[in-house]
Amino acid sequence: MTLTTTRPLAIHGIGVLATMDGTGPHGLGLVHDAVVVCRGAAIVDCGARGAVAIPSDAERVDAGGAAVVPGLVDCHTHAVFMGDRSDEFARRARGETYAQIAAAGGGIRATMRAVRAATVDALVAAARPRLRRMLARGVTTVEMKSGYGLTVEDELKLLRAARALRDEGPVHVEATLLAAHAVPPEAASASAWTTTIVDELLPAVAREGLASACDVFVEQGAFSVDDGRRLLTRAAALGLRPRVHAEQLSWQGGARLAAEVGALAASHLEHITADDARRLADAGVVAEVLSLAQVFLRGQRAIPGRLLKDAGCVVAVGTDLNPGTAMSCDLPLAAGLAVTQSGLYAEEALAGITRDGARALGLSDRGVVAVGRRADLVVLRATSPLALVYEWAEPLAAVVVAGGRVVHRWAAG
Ligand code: NIG
Ligand code: FE
Repeated sequence: MTLTTTRPLAIHGIGVLATMDGTGPHGLGLVHDAVVVCRGAAIVDCGARGAVAIPSDAERVDAGGAAVVPGLVDCHTHAVFMGDRSDEFARRARGETYAQIAAAGGGIRATMRAVRAATVDALVAAARPRLRRMLARGVTTVEMKSGYGLTVEDELKLLRAARALRDEGPVHVEATLLAAHAVPPEAASASAWTTTIVDELLPAVAREGLASACDVFVEQGAFSVDDGRRLLTRAAALGLRPRVHAEQLSWQGGARLAAEVGALAASHLEHITADDARRLADAGVVAEVLSLAQVFLRGQRAIPGRLLKDAGCVVAVGTDLNPGTAMSCDLPLAAGLAVTQSGLYAEEALAGITRDGARALGLSDRGVVAVGRRADLVVLRATSPLALVYEWAEPLAAVVVAGGRVVHRWAAG
């Protein structure tokens, strides 16, 4: 065995460090003229220059007066998929709805056909450039769901692709089993497929340690609250944290279910009520605002982000990257849209893609810059951390550090 000692890494010349630790105006935890020192995969010192000693052997990154934020966390994606559904976007522009296209054999089932025909290697190759695009925007942690295989073997295949991407790095991947995404064509009913997931798939996923969470799409034409309860109760017993796609297209009671089972997060939430928001807050369920999906689908009502915040919910923001309802890797853009579409304050949206995004994944080691946290950091091509929510569709990461290593540098091109 060879023992390798890595040099410490020091980021200096930071104009303003947004620690996102909840202190100071709007909780941004700003430190001006700051330095961060990392050793191994952890932050070992940070604060104002003068209060922080830079080790003499440190590799130095000069931020040149720019802003620095924690590595961004995308708490909700369906990033492993194959195929092309641009035709559906065009059909919706002519007036067809998402539900009509799904009922006619398109939608999730169209991606399913492409995924079933693909190998693990092909799935990994398709997802890799998406992760690169995310990294160029400062994303260092990504949640990734299955849900396009819809047989026991094909769902395992998607999770194995997610695991291969995790092993490859540098972006950290958290995998979620979403076999209850659509009813497979071979299944007699949603309830019958739920039984297969409970009896066969969940034990296999738990045995191989392939996912840390289990999600369900509670919707008309997808899964009922009762299916979801049965699935998530079993998942929790096997150590997979529950998550719910709730009230996206219509009110079905998915948010209440999330509160009832103590889910880590409930997502979408276009159709929630004030009572639902209170239940989520009381149960400590993180609300995921997925604004790209809201604006990508025509006719979706705005997600009531302000209502969720005012009810006391922790609100995260994700891309929901998927070929049907959110064909974008742009997490900062999602945060900008969460401000203009859903009434989040700019600082809350920034928290939604850092600190609160990490909370949606149950990860307490990241999303905040502090001693002992994971050394995931982004030097921005901007002097204000709010540029991330304000300057749309521009990859703003100058330097990305993940696990204490420089893993990306912006190159003009
Ligand atoms: O989160 N709502 C269900 N699932 C995805 C869409 C998946 C697809 O259309 O491929 C979503 O929006
Ligand atoms: Fe989703």
